[in-house]
Amino acid sequence: MMNWHERRTAARRRGVGKYDTAEARAYGGTQGLGWLTADEESAYLADLSRVVQFGPGTNVLDIGAGTGVMCSILRRLPGIELTALEPSAAMLAILQAKPELVNVRTINGFCDEPQDHDRFKAAQFDAIVSRQVVNGLFDPLLAFQHWHRWLKPAGVAVVIDGLYGRDGWAGRWEEEVDVLPLAASQSMATTPYLLEACGFHIEAVERMTTVNTLPTTRTPRYVVIARRTTR
Ligand SMILES: C[S@@+](CC[C@H](N)C(=O)[O-])C[C@H]1O[C@@H](n2cnc3c(N)ncnc32)[C@H](O)[C@@H]1O
Repeated sequence: MMNWHERRTAARRRGVGKYDTAEARAYGGTQGLGWLTADEESAYLADLSRVVQFGPGTNVLDIGAGTGVMCSILRRLPGIELTALEPSAAMLAILQAKPELVNVRTINGFCDEPQDHDRFKAAQFDAIVSRQVVNGLFDPLLAFQHWHRWLKPAGVAVVIDGLYGRDGWAGRWEEEVDVLPLAASQSMATTPYLLEACGFHIEAVERMTTVNTLPTTRTPRYVVIARRTTR
């Protein structure tokens, strides 16, 4: 019988593998998940504007970009340069088919595997954003170390996630809840704690109060703003 370490290692990439064509289509077609109305996008921008600014020319990496929701939100700000990293080819294909995202540079890959260390040059991005991704990372600590490396000094990581419980992992996703470290983290403390351990300075940990009033938000969302310290 496999021990916990062996079981967990065997599950690497299993969750992302579930984002096949059918799952990507279902995700991409669900309002509030894979696409947002203009009002919903405005709600995200309103919550973000309280804690972070993206000026013209900001070079942003969207990690686990999926069907392109964060890219669609951020392209509404003037002069943002966007790169989308996404391991599921099916999710990425939906992003790439969106005419408004034609200028987004896209990369098919992970952020939390040892070989991802050199996926991007050190100090390449002004900002890294991720929405609804950290709960599904296989190796959050290695991911955050890579994010720290890829950010410019004083660059910022913007992590949006939900206070998900075990019950949200149902059906064929249920087996993932005990192999993904942040799968059911109902505390807003866990992600900033880990980011801090990877060298980030935490500037804000807040509920997304505007987003959380939207009818399509079933699980409360929060945002962490983590600055790369200049060392
Ligand atoms: C729930 S979806 C969120 C997609 C998008 N960020 C959004 O806001 O709709 C989670 C995404 O994270 C991606 N993902 C999971 N593990 C990842 C990893 N280790 N590195 C990068 N992306 C990952 C998945 O493929 C999936 O597209």
